[in-house]
Amino acid sequence: MDILRESYTLNTGATIPKIGFGTWQIPNGSEAYNSTIFALKSGYRHIDTARVYGNEESVGKAIRDSDVPRDEIFLTTKLPADIKTYEGALEAFETSIQTLGVDYVDLYLIHAPWPWSDRGGDYTEGNIQAWKAMEEIYKSGRAKAIGVSNFNVKDMQAILDNGTITPSANQIRFFIGFTQDEITKFCQDKGIIVEAYSPLATGRILDNPQVKKLADKYNKSVAQICIRYTLQRGTVTLPKSTHEEYILQNADVDFVIDNQDMQYLNQLHDIAS
Ligand code: A2P
Repeated sequence: MDILRESYTLNTGATIPKIGFGTWQIPNGSEAYNSTIFALKSGYRHIDTARVYGNEESVGKAIRDSDVPRDEIFLTTKLPADIKTYEGALEAFETSIQTLGVDYVDLYLIHAPWPWSDRGGDYTEGNIQAWKAMEEIYKSGRAKAIGVSNFNVKDMQAILDNGTITPSANQIRFFIGFTQDEITKFCQDKGIIVEAYSPLATGRILDNPQVKKLADKYNKSVAQICIRYTLQRGTVTLPKSTHEEYILQNADVDFVIDNQDMQYLNQLHDIAS
């Protein structure tokens, strides 16, 4: 599982492991603790959480209890999407750091450009204010990099136009058939790392017959094809699982999908409804 040691370089110069362990929808407590510890034991060196996942406490404890030195782990957490003020963002960061029980995070992201209760609403001014706080946090050294999540081109442009620091990453929903090409290209052209969350479409892609056929050809599982696909599209990938067997399988992706098959996968649309 050499891929677990591969990384991209962020625009800060720091490296980010290509595969991260996603913890969305893993409940705080033994599930988040055990799966994070197991991922670390298996060689994962990148853990992705968020305040709103509610599991920072167990994820942080797993990181502290693991035998892996903190500086060998890339840890991401996120500013809740409904916090759109400078002060609020600074406070939220303190809460996350305390809940995680760490001195710093490797990446801190604005979780979304709008509160989940008002998806698509215009919070440009709030995002600019929150970004000012993110820049302060970055300058303090307690977030080694800062970025955004779920941002489209317009949201991103507002940060580029009004901020002084270019985001290092944009974490977006990205899987076969749902690759958000406009924002993906926009970020990648600017050296902003795209992180793929839900690379398995939260499990809804696993029964897809087209991907299954290709998986059989490579003698891999559908999940492995999905994960490998996101890597070959140049994204960080964040598969989530609470099963040890899957956690291992999802990192066992040292194979190559050939160009023709990549093209085939690229033209599939909306296959996980
Ligand atoms: P579970 O968490 O019960 O182990 P995504 O990463 O797109 O959010 O998808 C996560 C979903 O896919 C979860 O339901 C997870 O199950 C399931 N899953 C993760 N890895 C695999 C795998 N290798 N094979 C089958 N299902 C998987």
